[in-house]
Amino acid sequence: MIKALRGTKDILPDKIGLWHYIGSIGRDIFNIYGYKEIKTPIIEEASLFIRSIGGATDIVQKEMYVFSDRGGRNIALRPEATASIVRAGIENSLFQAGSVSRLFYMGPMFRSERPQQGRQRQFYQIGVEAVGSDSPFVDAEVIALAAGFLEKLGIKKFHVKLNSLGCRQDKISVMEKYKESFRPHLEKLCETCKGRFDKNVLRIFDCKEDTCKSIAENIKIENVLCGDCAGHFEKVKKGLDILGIEYTVDHKIVRGLDYYTKTVFEITQEDLGAKDAICAGGRYNNLVKELGGKDTPAIGFAFGMERLVVALKQLSAVSCQPSAVNVFVAVTGDALYSEAFKLLETLRRSGIAGEIDYDSKSLKAQMRKAEKLGAKFTVIVGEEEFRNKRVIVRDMENHSQKEIELTNLIVEIRGT
Ligand code: HAM
Repeated sequence: MIKALRGTKDILPDKIGLWHYIGSIGRDIFNIYGYKEIKTPIIEEASLFIRSIGGATDIVQKEMYVFSDRGGRNIALRPEATASIVRAGIENSLFQAGSVSRLFYMGPMFRSERPQQGRQRQFYQIGVEAVGSDSPFVDAEVIALAAGFLEKLGIKKFHVKLNSLGCRQDKISVMEKYKESFRPHLEKLCETCKGRFDKNVLRIFDCKEDTCKSIAENIKIENVLCGDCAGHFEKVKKGLDILGIEYTVDHKIVRGLDYYTKTVFEITQEDLGAKDAICAGGRYNNLVKELGGKDTPAIGFAFGMERLVVALKQLSAVSCQPSAVNVFVAVTGDALYSEAFKLLETLRRSGIAGEIDYDSKSLKAQMRKAEKLGAKFTVIVGEEEFRNKRVIVRDMENHSQKEIELTNLIVEIRGT
């Protein structure tokens, strides 16, 4: 039997309600903040991600699904959406000088990681990108939006962790300082991290080896930001204070993608276990220019949707049941079956969710089925009534029933 690939999962009908719930709350709140939805292709030229995420990152080196298509082009399944959105924005002139382009997205991403709880090879993200301003208020607004989204979903026990990597020059100083700190431990690092030490020391923080993790845990650097970036960071914090968003500054938040500058953040959630980052994001002020656009500052975030689903499952308040059947059409004999079948179609076209039994069982069996489906009403098409253009409507909750004119059926069902 052919099974789903390792690290991929089917989202079955009994769970899809949660996904729709997340999508619709997201759409509502992103619209309120002025974001418009964008969908970009799942496949892109691999070089888009190599140039933006960075050639030394785990994502590009170990996790990206890359293949040659029939034309010999080097194609990647997108491991994230930020690079694609920047590419689409430049290509379609979405970014205008002097204004902030606000975009949101949701869809599948692909990373060939070792699957575990909360980590898949195909996973879904929902996120936003605000392109066109370097104002620290935009940073605060974006982080507040992420927190507001969680609150709107009803997810609690989350923590915002904040850091600043500074501008391009600061990042070089940050890396130098980290190099100095890691140098005495160089021999103890794994072979991959020894390579990371030379290529991009920040990536040592992504290592999953215990020894590297505990070395990284104890490394601290301070006061590396230039005056401008330090000032920006102070204003971001002030902005969050004004909005009443709680956060902690955590110098270990360095992010696994190279495009970040200045503000970076992660949101963790207590119910998620080891993979507790439910959202991550930050500024990427150089990316638009690096991908061929004008010099345009930007910031965004993405939530892992599977992780939102896990956090939501802890909340019994959220109903994830697909909408119930409103009407069950029952028929007293085979002769009237095609009339009942036609009536069902009329009801459905009027926007009333209906069902019928295709196995022509007894009326009793049909009533049982209506009950099982949770139908609010059963419309019984009986020979004598139907001859008089009438049907019986049974209220399945209080078991009362009445005979009504066929022409009044839709109003009758809607009116209750
Ligand atoms: P990221 O940290 O790579 O950032 O991913 C964002 C979120 O996606 C993570 O916090 C996690 O919830 C979820 N996620 C990542 N990998 C997996 C996986 N293998 N399985 C399940 N969930 C996963 C980005 O992707 C950036 N593009 C975010 C961003 C937007 N930065 C600026 N704008």
